[in-house]
Amino acid sequence: MVERETWATRLGFILAAIGSAVGLGNIWRFPFQTASSGGSAFLAVYLLAVVVIGIPTILAEFVIGRRSHLDAINAFRRLGRPKWWFVGAIGVVGSFWTLSYYSVVGGWVIRYVVGSLNGNALTAPGDYFGAVSAGPEAVAFHAAFMLVTVVIVAFGIERGIELATKFMVPSIVVLLLGLAVFAATLPGSGQGYEFLLAFDASAIADNAAQVIPAAVGQALFSLSLGFSVMITYASYIGKDDNLVTDGLTIAVANTFVGVLAGLVVLPLLATQTGDPGSGGPGAVFVAIPTALANLPAGRAIGVVFFLVVLIAALSSSISLLEAVTSYIVDRGYSRMPTAAGLGGIVFLLGVPSAWDTAWLGWFDGISVSLFLPIAVLLVVLFVGWVMGRDAADELRQGMSTEGIAPVWLWALRTFVLVAVVGVVALNLYDLFTV
Ligand code: PFF
Ligand code: NA
Repeated sequence: MVERETWATRLGFILAAIGSAVGLGNIWRFPFQTASSGGSAFLAVYLLAVVVIGIPTILAEFVIGRRSHLDAINAFRRLGRPKWWFVGAIGVVGSFWTLSYYSVVGGWVIRYVVGSLNGNALTAPGDYFGAVSAGPEAVAFHAAFMLVTVVIVAFGIERGIELATKFMVPSIVVLLLGLAVFAATLPGSGQGYEFLLAFDASAIADNAAQVIPAAVGQALFSLSLGFSVMITYASYIGKDDNLVTDGLTIAVANTFVGVLAGLVVLPLLATQTGDPGSGGPGAVFVAIPTALANLPAGRAIGVVFFLVVLIAALSSSISLLEAVTSYIVDRGYSRMPTAAGLGGIVFLLGVPSAWDTAWLGWFDGISVSLFLPIAVLLVVLFVGWVMGRDAADELRQGMSTEGIAPVWLWALRTFVLVAVVGVVALNLYDLFTV
């Protein structure tokens, strides 16, 4: 039996987890969603969801992973609760499902790096998006994105994921900071910040039954929760870390990058139409190139911007593939063919989404409003009520502040659970009443 892999360093684990969290969700969805659903009022609901549900849940996933040192499905057997294996399985299936369309969008992003470089993406942005976002070309770039994802995962935890994210995460932050400084110099940038800062409580109050679950869903998706990914990443922790500091670091970094992306995207849009749009799948891909087309250094800025989006997407897609790969590898199969085989199947599952964006929207809807909240609910229930004291013991390992563990456990058992039940109910209600 080969020894199970571990992260080489604690920082490596943290960076990999930040890489997973920071992704298309932060850049493609978050700024547009915020701007079109109430600005800082939406941000407030989002932040509340991160603190009240997100942070306790990420710690719950860490505890399952680190205590079992196994993939997210077998973890439950090692924790002495074999009947709960399906909780991990829902997450693993959710990862598989989500990766299939996440990779399609990743493919568009590759296309846009090239299209910014040669200028094609900037000449007639609407037509360009229509041409590259669906059909054979989208399938080809989806395949290319999956291929890169497979190669990184095939190299394993330390030499693949850890090594890659060690370069990727700092690059994302540095490049985004540079872009944000550039965006601040644009005429009318102040108007852009207003999309983010404007406080429109009525945008939430009028549609609370949709906006609140959407904000919570986005907060949880953004933290990579519910897809067994954080369970899997924590299972590779070698020595004892302080999980609480790790979880807080990841949540803060993820929110910071989301806001930073807003500080890049929204001023760019303000130079143009003054309207952030609805945040549909085409938002970034049409609105940004339209704005860039009128700027002197538009093509160069476009290359850097889409490169950042690409790096962010890849550092997330590898975590989705790893959650599935880990299950097969832990059953004794070798990593390289496993990653390649799974990548091939995910590619096929994504072909409908690459063919037609209507499919992509459907896959995304099922993922964020069905798989994710149900898996999070089961994780919270399991860690809070089934693991119970064992979970608090595990959280305490390597931690100097002892008092947090019981408070965390109490939170999971009570208001976190209640809040997640509410979100699941609202999502099901929305799903079956449209
Ligand atoms: N957190 C990523 C994003 O915001 O784009 C997406 C994601 C990655 C979700 C991994 C879930 C996951 F398990
Ligand atoms: Na994110």
